[in-house]
Amino acid sequence: MTQSTHDRLLIIDFGSQVTQLIARRLRELSVYCEIHPFNRVDEAFLTAFAPKAVIFSGGPASVFAEGAPMPPKGVFDLGVPILGICYGQQVMMHCLGGKVERGHGTAEFGRAYVTPTPATHPILSGWFDTDDGHGGREQVWMSHGDHVSEIAPGFQVLGTSPNAPFAITANPERHFYAVQFHPEVHHTPKGAKLYENFVRLAGFKGDWTMGAYREEAIRKIREQVGDQKVICGLSGGVDSSVAAVLIHEAIGDQLTCVFVDHGLLRLGEAEQVVTMFRDHYNMPLIHADESDLFLGALDGISDPEVKRKTIGRLFIEVFEKHAKSVGGATFLAQGTLYPDVIESVSFSGGPSVTIKSHHNVGGLPEKMGMKLVEPLRELFKDEVRALGRELGLPDAFIGRHPFPGPGLAIRCPGEITREKLDILRRADAVYIDQIRKHGLYDEIWQAFAAILPMRTVGVMGDGRTYDYALALRAVTSVDGMTADYYPFTHEFLGETATRIINEVQGVNRVFYDCTSKPPGTIELE
Ligand code: XMP
Repeated sequence: MTQSTHDRLLIIDFGSQVTQLIARRLRELSVYCEIHPFNRVDEAFLTAFAPKAVIFSGGPASVFAEGAPMPPKGVFDLGVPILGICYGQQVMMHCLGGKVERGHGTAEFGRAYVTPTPATHPILSGWFDTDDGHGGREQVWMSHGDHVSEIAPGFQVLGTSPNAPFAITANPERHFYAVQFHPEVHHTPKGAKLYENFVRLAGFKGDWTMGAYREEAIRKIREQVGDQKVICGLSGGVDSSVAAVLIHEAIGDQLTCVFVDHGLLRLGEAEQVVTMFRDHYNMPLIHADESDLFLGALDGISDPEVKRKTIGRLFIEVFEKHAKSVGGATFLAQGTLYPDVIESVSFSGGPSVTIKSHHNVGGLPEKMGMKLVEPLRELFKDEVRALGRELGLPDAFIGRHPFPGPGLAIRCPGEITREKLDILRRADAVYIDQIRKHGLYDEIWQAFAAILPMRTVGVMGDGRTYDYALALRAVTSVDGMTADYYPFTHEFLGETATRIINEVQGVNRVFYDCTSKPPGTIELE
């Protein structure tokens, strides 16, 4: 458990798909919170955590199921406000003497409208305005099979919907609140307001700011590391860069960064990263130019998984080799983010299908017998960007699109050659330049060019060409898990295709990829 000096809110996770969003809404309110699965929270944990308020998440179970997830013993006696959401409401009523029902007419999925009852309570401050054009009802997002059919003693009803007679309920005396819908999702427009009201009623000061986080993180890094040495794999991406700058601020030259150049980087990328960290931040940095090693090993390989595994294996080997030269580093720094570490409760238990073997340095700490320093473990991606700004990293660097560990290898379907990589680098640079010139860079989650394993015939001047075809990709996304292709105008696409073909020798045809994810993935391999 993280030790924090801030007011703390505990989210007890019953396995909802959207529990992370509850944490997100709370962080927007500068409230410090942690998510813990229901079956890992016991009375001792509650005492040690000392929450100022508790939230029960939703979840896929039914209180009628054998072994249904239950709240930890003692939670209702803590004397702190509790908010139950969806399954969290049902389980709260079930435990406190109310009733839950299943069967015809108890389910509700998707958009629903809640109307107020005559009872009022500050938990609904800002809700049910009659002058906002909705006639005093509020849109909410429902996703439930069972529903509460009798509220527990001491509760009153504040809002109802067609299939949830107890859509919003409160026990004002004990400060227990319970709603059947999901206030954390975007489709409940006043959901954020409900969380704001809840934390205000619970007495949170909203003291979890980026400046406070920075100071606390620096103190913790110093405490953890002492006078030992730390190495950090720098990829040039935002996460590892912010982690490196933060750790450097904490322990100075006890940190050495290792930047592995596998020959699969974008145009000018290696120089930019090395200049910024070595010259601007004055950090000890090993620039490991291993392009011959990687490109040699990839020669003749066209299977995407073999490519990924080859790069992953070599990366670990090279990193280990250079880390040894630092001389006795006992800590490895990683830019692991909050969504990577949240343990969500698995009710199905089955492993998910591997779509792609993602490249990371996951196996490194065990293999090298090192301890981990992960100062970004509590942050979401946009919070990492805010911390980067707080640390003075340039905006242009912080706002960079994600770039995958295996680099251009997975944007070059089929065999990888130096010639193809060179064409790809130059074409990608023109494409990104176009996007920046049209002011679209920040609207797009990720954009890149890929070189296709085919040549096509064209005519330029009076001559025949037989050159490579290029695919352009641009997507919008929130987390990379799902994505939509970006709707460029035809003018933009036409102008970009013309520029690429005119400026990059070796390309005579350009396609735009209009596949969303799913069914496609963002990268081509
Ligand atoms: P896909 O292609 O799986 O990509 O839809 C989703 C996001 O992940 C990035 N990506 C990777 N990032 N190592 C990484 O660090 C990888 O092996 C890797 N593969 C894909 C991809 O660029 C996109 O942002």
